[in-house]
Amino acid sequence: MPYDASLNFVFWSPTKIVFGEKTALDVAMEMETLKCKKALIVTDKDLAKNTDIPEKIKKALGNLCVGIFSDVEADSGIHIVNQGGKLGQELGADCLVSVGGGSAIDTAKGIAIILKEGGELQDYVGFQVLTRPQTPHIVIPTTAGTGSEVTYLAVIKDHQEGRKLLFGDYNILPNVAILDPKMTEGLPPRLTAATGMDAMCHAIEALHSLQREPMADGLAFHAIRLIKEFLPRAVENGKDMTARGQMLIAANMAGAAFSNAQVGMVHALAHTVGAKFKVHHGLANSILLPACLRYNADVCGEVYLDVLSTLGVTIERIRPEEAGSAVAERIIEFTKKLGLPQRLRDVGVPEEGLNECSEIALSDGAIVYNPKLISDSAEVLKVYQQAW
Ligand SMILES: [Fe+2]
Repeated sequence: MPYDASLNFVFWSPTKIVFGEKTALDVAMEMETLKCKKALIVTDKDLAKNTDIPEKIKKALGNLCVGIFSDVEADSGIHIVNQGGKLGQELGADCLVSVGGGSAIDTAKGIAIILKEGGELQDYVGFQVLTRPQTPHIVIPTTAGTGSEVTYLAVIKDHQEGRKLLFGDYNILPNVAILDPKMTEGLPPRLTAATGMDAMCHAIEALHSLQREPMADGLAFHAIRLIKEFLPRAVENGKDMTARGQMLIAANMAGAAFSNAQVGMVHALAHTVGAKFKVHHGLANSILLPACLRYNADVCGEVYLDVLSTLGVTIERIRPEEAGSAVAERIIEFTKKLGLPQRLRDVGVPEEGLNECSEIALSDGAIVYNPKLISDSAEVLKVYQQAW
């Protein structure tokens, strides 16, 4: 699809990417390159309790590691980030090594701010609030989905208000991302599928965003190609290292794409049901994507045709206005094969909760980039009801 003659854009993705089996064990070398001496590992409770991954990273860091903060939970909250910040200050940490999925990575981004600026995380809510680079941060993802290792965003939950807060700043972009397929080997099939669909949503949302741009487009289209081919393989056989590696690359590309082009209503609606009803982020996105594609269909025909073509569909006989519905059908077929639930009612969202979610989703930061203006909660409610 051609770009408008008035196109102008900024593309910013400075994170160093290291890829390969067992590269996570070279983390000390990356720290030395950053001239750091005291790393705090930030990881989640589940990984610390049920795997030896954080310990392996600690061992690989040797005397460069001053401690492990392993209190991160799914949908990490502000109080957890503040606790991690306090521990980092006590230990004199000058570097963060996050090991985990989106929650651990985003928690470390928050801790990086506290270690540099002091105070508490709630002092820095919003966009481009920071004026200087933050504490160096190396990310070792253990899921392939969030792409948070290359995004300028941290999503942290305010448990008191029951909503997710966005922190968006170029100064919290991680310095290094180590994509080691071995680190995702133990991820169970359902989480592999759900996190992989988060990456699919990042790619599709970057493509239909109002802030769409060609550099991000290239990454997003290739991410879709990789996810289509390798996500089913990674779900079927978690030890398929080729599939695991390609999914890490896909999630990373989709992350860099949306960190520049932004996401839209799929994420706005998913953030809201995630915060209210604890629906896993990737799962919420996966369920909401088809209904959102249909909502946007009349303004996104051309780009959805390109998505269809990338998914391997012959598009000659499909008219642009039919493309949104056709992509939605393909996504449903794909996620059914992955064994993922299809409706919000299947993941614990009560029908009577949809009204309130419709109001809250309208104020989510992601919705402003949706290709079709959505400013009426009744419209959001219709989309939620379709997905319910
Ligand atoms: Fe996401």
